[in-house]
Amino acid sequence: MKYSQFSVQWLQFTVMVLSILITGTAAGRFKIPRLSPTRGALMHNPDLLSSAAVSDDLQTFYYPQTLDHFNYQPESYATFLQRYVMNFKHWGGANDSAPILAYLGAEGPLDDDLAVIGFLNDNAIRFNALLVYIEHRYYGKSIPFGSSGEAFKNASTLGYFNSAQAIADYAEIIMHIKKKFNAFYSPVIVIGGSYGGMLASWLRLKYPHVALGALASSAPILYFGKLTPRGAYFSVVTKDFKETSKTCYRTIRDSWSVIDKIASQPHGLAILSSKFKTCEPLKDTFELKDGLQYMYAEAAQYNGPPTYQVTVVCGGIDGANEKQDILSKIFAGVVAYRGKQSCYINQPTNALEAYIINQPTNSLEACGGWGWQTCSEILIPTGIGNNSMFQAAPFDLNGYIQYCMSLYGVPPRPHWVTSYYGGHDIKLILQRFGSNIIFSNGLQDPYSSGGVLENISESIIALHTVNGSHCLDIISKDETDPEWLVKQRETEVKIIKGWIAQYYADLKLTRSNKRS
Ligand SMILES: *[C@@H]1O[C@H](CO)[C@@H](O)[C@H](O)[C@H]1NC(C)=O
Ligand SMILES: *[C@@H]1O[C@H](CO)[C@@H](O)[C@H](O)[C@H]1NC(C)=O
Repeated sequence: MKYSQFSVQWLQFTVMVLSILITGTAAGRFKIPRLSPTRGALMHNPDLLSSAAVSDDLQTFYYPQTLDHFNYQPESYATFLQRYVMNFKHWGGANDSAPILAYLGAEGPLDDDLAVIGFLNDNAIRFNALLVYIEHRYYGKSIPFGSSGEAFKNASTLGYFNSAQAIADYAEIIMHIKKKFNAFYSPVIVIGGSYGGMLASWLRLKYPHVALGALASSAPILYFGKLTPRGAYFSVVTKDFKETSKTCYRTIRDSWSVIDKIASQPHGLAILSSKFKTCEPLKDTFELKDGLQYMYAEAAQYNGPPTYQVTVVCGGIDGANEKQDILSKIFAGVVAYRGKQSCYINQPTNALEAYIINQPTNSLEACGGWGWQTCSEILIPTGIGNNSMFQAAPFDLNGYIQYCMSLYGVPPRPHWVTSYYGGHDIKLILQRFGSNIIFSNGLQDPYSSGGVLENISESIIALHTVNGSHCLDIISKDETDPEWLVKQRETEVKIIKGWIAQYYADLKLTRSNKRS
């Protein structure tokens, strides 16, 4: 592992930490969990950063991308350089119409994904495929308006930052590549995880002439509007803990009122700060509760092999001395999960401050791309219902709108995703429209609650594993992978091969019909 690389990664994570969670009652505390496929993988295996997926075979290119695909005003014609990376090593070539596997970047720099997304590289040789990885606009090196300071200045420059533009970007770059290499008849399979998984499935539905099929890993395309109960995310977190250990679950469930009780005593916050070795003295109980909730949510989201993060947390909580008080047990869980550190809990704030100081920018940029996206279009309404191991906190849409208004000066559009992409009665609507999409999920992942978990048709397939976590199937394979994960990936490859075989048969028929 190269240390310098990892520290850059770490900064990125700390920002993510703040981007996550949750509906608080205090103003400015509305956060929607980030969906990154990378966090868990890197966290339990930082060596991935220098592993197989990042190889010398990768070549980087920049495409002069149109700023606004949907408007013909002069300013729409402005361009920015969008980064994409290709790997030709195993490509069978255009003459054989050999396939193209295209990874669609999500809410982060492409570098993170190149380090951990293994599905393309692991299977390139079996498909004789050209590999393409495309970065999402407004992330990494694909920033419009010359600099991120300019791009993130205000809603006027951020307005071009949405999923429809991003999908159109991907379509344009894929068409560009096909043209450049005369690969007009090479079938394209788009692949994405999390938010990127949503983009992959939506691209297949909107641009069937560009992508033959899509692998959408852990894509909660139904966590919009009221399609999914708003408490679903934290219900799954609760279920993961309950299934792992009933005593652990009960300890966590009972801890919140203990925190409240101590906080109400004289010097209560100081007592809690010292109990949890917080990096800064707690200013209120929200900081503590939010930090703990975030930790449990993250452990659940990435609760997969080899380490099973929920087991790690519960190992600490259950392993504490029976005679210890509840909060000492909770703290033992924190230490088990985070490892030995000089301080805990509100540490991310410090790291974010450090991040902001390092960046000569304004505060909107510090909120990151995901901040804008969740405040405009990707509004995943996440609350906490009554039957979880957390204190109930219903999602407050009006408060959320106010919060976004105060940050960006424009309100979010909570219904646009379902208007533009659909979602209501998805089986009824899609069973005779669209084809060739795999929705894969791991049921340990709280976001699976907003995923497609039932087959929609013969070729719109739901593929989930009971013990899988967020985006596990598209992360690089490993010798220690359990059999069910190997099988899930094999099934995906088999299904995609089936699509491609059918396409080649259709292509052959079309050509012979043309000749006769
Ligand atoms: C592809 O086909 C064209 C036309 O038949 C031919 O000129 C070219 O050499 C072929 N390229 C490869 C790499 O086989
Ligand atoms: C954004 O900033 C530019 C230049 O500073 C300004 O012209 C524009 O009106 C601003 N837009 C909004 C929505 O504040």
